[in-house]
Amino acid sequence: MSILPKPSSAEQTDGPFSEGSCSREPRLQFEDGCGGVFTLSNADRVTGLYFPLANDNGMMSCVTPLLGGDVKTGQSSFLLTPVSVEDLHLSRSTRNFWLFQQNMGAWSACGVSAAQTVARTCGEESCRMKAGFLWQTVVRESRSFGLRSEVTTFVPEEENVELTRVRITNISEIRRSLVPTAAIPVFARPADNLRDHRHVTSLLHRIHTERFGVVTEPTLIFDEHGHRRNHTVYTVLGACGTGTPPVGFFPLLHPFLGEGGTLDWPEAITENRSPDATAGFEAAGEEALGGLRFQAVELEPGESTEYILALGINSPNAVRYLSSAKFQKAFSESQKAWEKKIGVRFSTGNRNFDLWMRWVVLEPAIRRIFGCSFLPHHDYGRGGRGWRDLWQDCLTLLLTDGSAMAEPLWRFCAGMRFDGTNATIIDGEGKDVRFVADRNNIARVWMDHAAWPLRTIALYLDETGDLDFLMRRQTYFYDGRVMRCRETIPDRDTASGTELPIKNGGFWRGTILEHLLLETLTACCDVGEHGMLRLENADWDDALDMAAERGESVAFSSMYAGNLKTLAGFLRALAARGTETVELAAELIELTNGLQDEAPPDRMQERLNHFCTSCCESISGNIAVVNTEDLAGLLERHASRLAKRIRQQEQVTDGTYRWLNGYYDNDGLPVERGKPEVRMTLTGQVFALRYGVADKIFAKDIAAAADHYLFAPELGGYRLNTDFHELKLNLGRQFGFAYGHKENGSVFSHMAVMYANALYHCGMVKEGRRALAALIGHSMDFRKSRIYPGIPEYFGPDGRGMYHYLTGAASWLTLTLRCEVFGISGRLGNLFLSPKLTAEDFADRRLLSCETYFLGRRMRVSYRNPLHLDYGGYTIGNVLLDGNLAARAVRKDGCFVLPSDVIRSLDTKHLHTLDAELTFNGQK
Ligand code: G1P
Repeated sequence: MSILPKPSSAEQTDGPFSEGSCSREPRLQFEDGCGGVFTLSNADRVTGLYFPLANDNGMMSCVTPLLGGDVKTGQSSFLLTPVSVEDLHLSRSTRNFWLFQQNMGAWSACGVSAAQTVARTCGEESCRMKAGFLWQTVVRESRSFGLRSEVTTFVPEEENVELTRVRITNISEIRRSLVPTAAIPVFARPADNLRDHRHVTSLLHRIHTERFGVVTEPTLIFDEHGHRRNHTVYTVLGACGTGTPPVGFFPLLHPFLGEGGTLDWPEAITENRSPDATAGFEAAGEEALGGLRFQAVELEPGESTEYILALGINSPNAVRYLSSAKFQKAFSESQKAWEKKIGVRFSTGNRNFDLWMRWVVLEPAIRRIFGCSFLPHHDYGRGGRGWRDLWQDCLTLLLTDGSAMAEPLWRFCAGMRFDGTNATIIDGEGKDVRFVADRNNIARVWMDHAAWPLRTIALYLDETGDLDFLMRRQTYFYDGRVMRCRETIPDRDTASGTELPIKNGGFWRGTILEHLLLETLTACCDVGEHGMLRLENADWDDALDMAAERGESVAFSSMYAGNLKTLAGFLRALAARGTETVELAAELIELTNGLQDEAPPDRMQERLNHFCTSCCESISGNIAVVNTEDLAGLLERHASRLAKRIRQQEQVTDGTYRWLNGYYDNDGLPVERGKPEVRMTLTGQVFALRYGVADKIFAKDIAAAADHYLFAPELGGYRLNTDFHELKLNLGRQFGFAYGHKENGSVFSHMAVMYANALYHCGMVKEGRRALAALIGHSMDFRKSRIYPGIPEYFGPDGRGMYHYLTGAASWLTLTLRCEVFGISGRLGNLFLSPKLTAEDFADRRLLSCETYFLGRRMRVSYRNPLHLDYGGYTIGNVLLDGNLAARAVRKDGCFVLPSDVIRSLDTKHLHTLDAELTFNGQK
């Protein structure tokens, strides 16, 4: 599919990694025949690379090509020292494995002896990284030491343990005698102790050795919040591939290093010392080391030997992985489990793109585990998932298994407050899900937060047709923060729980529809002096955080206008199936009354305040019965008024181009302008396009302005904003960042993809393709992006991908390709096909397909384009379902529709095929 730029000749001719290759330029390639496995030659010549390893059980690791990185299950339980991105080159702490040879000295299988670090720039050793779902192998060869190491690391499915297999091969012509030692420094405490009692917390350590390794069990957890008994046990175990335990141990770091020694030249190794301990050793108050000495081994030329290491956190069963065979079994199971999570697959004729997309589809599952706190770029917060990110990651999960998402989505609604605000951090899974007001305990309101749940629930309803979901009841989050987080109820007894009380006893449970109405209506009443929704403490752009008094977000006013219409659509669908009235908490009527007519902002605020007062400590428990169609009409009218106002009031022009102002700053002035120096944001345009605020002509003009002022193809596409050349303290911290970085004008993938999505959605396919092609092409070009396959959060001014793996862009890219480009979307459980593929997308191929789930059935939707027609010139002709003409299919709004009952009649075991032929539509 030519959404992608053509590969350069260098990429095309570059063969597989060859040992004799003299090029030291790292090259990334997908392997033949293995879904998503890729190799990176000279991986140790790239700065800042890290790869995530994890399981659904809460084990989180990251690993670098030099086996650096860390291992943890949460903020309070780091087995290896926590790393931020700069530590990746600063730290000497790795999962090291040493081989000592008489006459030759010490060689690190991970490439991190002091001597190897010096020799790295001379290309003395080769280093090739290979990775798949979710495992990493690093192959390193040293001709002078006559050895090859292959180190494979992954996290098995169910146990909180990270497993590594070290395979050593004699690649020389002579027999080699080796003394093998694993040496992994153990941190064994909360991340906070890195700069808070680093030394004192080592005094808490109780260390002992067992048959297979070193166990560290601190007595206490020790921080400024108080001291408590520790219950976390950290282990470093190991065995030969045959299952034979180590012959001795170096359980303590300092004796291992020797006086003045360092981890990359430790005395115990360089002087080939005998182990300091055997099984049964005990020590206290020291820094620990997973130092495991294995039996000396003789390797004939070509001969190999293996070692298995298990790094566990509260993992009493880790011993069960300690042999090559057991390792291999768990390794295969883990790969299968990750493969299953890739619920959407594309087949476009561009194999690299198809495989790259699998990594993109996997990213939301990775972010669900790591949140924003546990990868080297993501070192903020203390765990848990952010509200907005949580809802958007669900978008991809919904495309994988829609009906399975009903429970999680329903549970997440319990994080909404009755006044439309919400808990901002979500921790735990399933029944154990917990809501936290804020990660730093500062009560804040992100004005966009209430907009995302509706989008995700709309997708859920469309994919499943489960309208009953709207009628399910759920509690509200109540923590004494009231009046939209402006006030806190003093002396509230926290033992009274986190649910909203009813005045006369009990807790209120409102329908999901009520939750969504409250979120949307409170936001729509919270208007500023220009009639736009107030920015509060920021919107999607977290870094617009300095305009809480007078700031307004026009950008998200557009999104809420769209949400009002979507909500109205829900209500009309309910009415159509006979739900003539809906029951809502009586307090809500104050809000609907507020939207009856165009009211001045202060009047809207008054109503909102009045409403917030009515739900401060409890609500009445009274019920209002509202006519469903009337309510829908009210929402539609308000949406139209808001959209009209944006169109009329917010236009900006420089005389040639016109676009929309996206914000008001804290002085009440519009942020975007045409003169004297142009100021434009992408965010200000995206939602107006996506949610129909801008009409067709205006949309074209906006796209032209974005092309002129924001398009930077050399950096991946559309920048977030032009350079304001001002430290704009009346808007947000982002203007303190250098221009071109992060929220200040970088190509920020999430917004860039949402822009592409919006363009496709408006039918501006050529423009949408351009945005996608630039972003995808840049991400996939390793020479520019310097990241593993997948989409990063943003690209820095040098084009490097930053904050890899954890970005909302992944969900939106998957959604855009599936629902817009391939046009496979649900509407209340019916499957609609309306592709926006162009002749160029087909290139010289006649068939493009997408494998996805719909109503729990695995479906492959293929489009044949025998006449090589372009978008706009075709319609869907015959469609075959599993090889037969699709009976009972209908045509609606130019789309092919397969009703939900037809799909439900298909079995859930097999892959079903929908083959659609594109035929000439008589135009052009
Ligand atoms: C990140 C945050 C997201 C926020 C965005 C812009 O974006 O996770 O919540 O909206 O920065 O400040 P992401 O990495 O999701 O693209």
